Amino acid sequence: MTRRLKLDIPGPDLRVSFDDVKAKGWPALFAGDVETPAGAPLRLVLEIGFGRGEFGIELARAAPDVAHVGVELSFRRVHKQARRLAKGGPRNLRLVHGRGEMALAELFAPGSLDAVWINFPDPWPKKRHHRRRLVQAPLVAAVAERLARGGVLHVATDDAPYAEHIDAVLAAEPLLENAYAPARWLAEVPGRMPTAYEREWRALGRGLHFWAYRRRHA
Ligand SMILES: C[S@@+](CC[C@H](N)C(=O)[O-])C[C@H]1O[C@@H](n2cnc3c(N)ncnc32)[C@H](O)[C@@H]1O
Repeated sequence: MTRRLKLDIPGPDLRVSFDDVKAKGWPALFAGDVETPAGAPLRLVLEIGFGRGEFGIELARAAPDVAHVGVELSFRRVHKQARRLAKGGPRNLRLVHGRGEMALAELFAPGSLDAVWINFPDPWPKKRHHRRRLVQAPLVAAVAERLARGGVLHVATDDAPYAEHIDAVLAAEPLLENAYAPARWLAEVPGRMPTAYEREWRALGRGLHFWAYRRRHA
């Protein structure tokens, strides 16, 4: 029997379109749900490729005064997450259906993000598919430009060849510095919430790789 995706949203719909963001801006889209001190800019955190979405929910719960945005390519994942949030979830989270690369370019101003999370992006192991990998130099440069000073790009993967590629791309970005230096990456980050994929890979005993790269001040 095929499982149908329930398309109704049983409560407030926290999805926003590219057009909504361009027309209204993030402060208006989070009005009433995120308290910002008078005159202070809205603090924004972005997660690209949230998958099953539990990590973004925990992040949003842990920082109710920060606006969280999850961008996901899969319509099904966005829909499921929207249904889950409508039934009762943090209100300081908005969902965008689309490509992280496009969302970054079109929806976030330079210096506007406190943090960007990319957890367990698809590794695309075949060489001819490497160009489909999310973590590439232009994406990292776009993230770096949009991070506020001191803002952090977090990346994680279980895939050893992709880890080498990610490490090289991050280390080559002049606007970012390795917060875990002198380590290239960490295999464990104390206190970090595991994502759905992370739990699966840990159970299989796969080695994990975590990076935190901070936006330089200069
Ligand atoms: C391997 S899953 C990891 C999901 C989740 N981050 C986790 O750790 O459990 C990768 C996710 O990234 C999404 N994705 C792939 N390419 C993307 C892109 N260009 N922009 C946004 N999401 C993307 C996929 O649909 C999928 O949900």
